[in-house]
Amino acid sequence: MAIINLSLLLPILLLALSLSVVFAVDPSTLQDFCVTAPISQGTSICKDPKLVEANDFFFSGLHLAGNTSNPVGSKVTPVFASQLPGLNTLGISLARIDIAPWGVNPPHLHPRATEILTVLEGTLEVGFITSNPENRHFTKNLQKGDVFVFPIGLIHYQRNIGYDNVVAIAALSSQNPGVITIGNAVFGATPVISSGVLVKAFQLDRTVINYLQSKF
Ligand SMILES: *[C@@H]1O[C@H](CO)[C@@H](O)[C@H](O)[C@H]1NC(C)=O
Repeated sequence: MAIINLSLLLPILLLALSLSVVFAVDPSTLQDFCVTAPISQGTSICKDPKLVEANDFFFSGLHLAGNTSNPVGSKVTPVFASQLPGLNTLGISLARIDIAPWGVNPPHLHPRATEILTVLEGTLEVGFITSNPENRHFTKNLQKGDVFVFPIGLIHYQRNIGYDNVVAIAALSSQNPGVITIGNAVFGATPVISSGVLVKAFQLDRTVINYLQSKF
């Protein structure tokens, strides 16, 4: 009797289980590769596979430090599909991040990618903020060898809190992650966002808004 009950219950249990599990998959490509000019340049035709060569999958130069002599004290060297045509359609990319002592990689987000970062040299403060209404701030100080992940689309930042240069490598889950730097987007848009919008949005004096717009 007990066995019969179990055999009747099993399909119902499996159905309940399948309804409660979220199935998520990576997108799959339709060919081994599709080496091409970057999609940002408007092409989507794959290079003839017979003409593809090893150099199409190759990029050199990440051993070189980026020049951090700028107001924020950091430099990101991207290896996106624009720099490495073989990345086209593969859903992945890389960047080297150099940050001088007390320099920052300013608050920004990647509209199309999650980022996983590892520190090769130095001490790095990192953080990201969740969506409204919580706007929860997750932050952590990283040492050499530490890894941190910034979920897709969330505002994040990095700051060198040590006495030596920081070198970090970030991997991103898109060939073309996109970067929206908050300050540049809000105060440096072309054409500018009407200062009246920003005065009200940020509850700041018009002179402060004008100053910020001149800075970006
Ligand atoms: C780094 O950038 C600064 C500012 O643009 C420039 O003056 C300097 O020559 C650059 N240094 C190197 C090594 O390229």
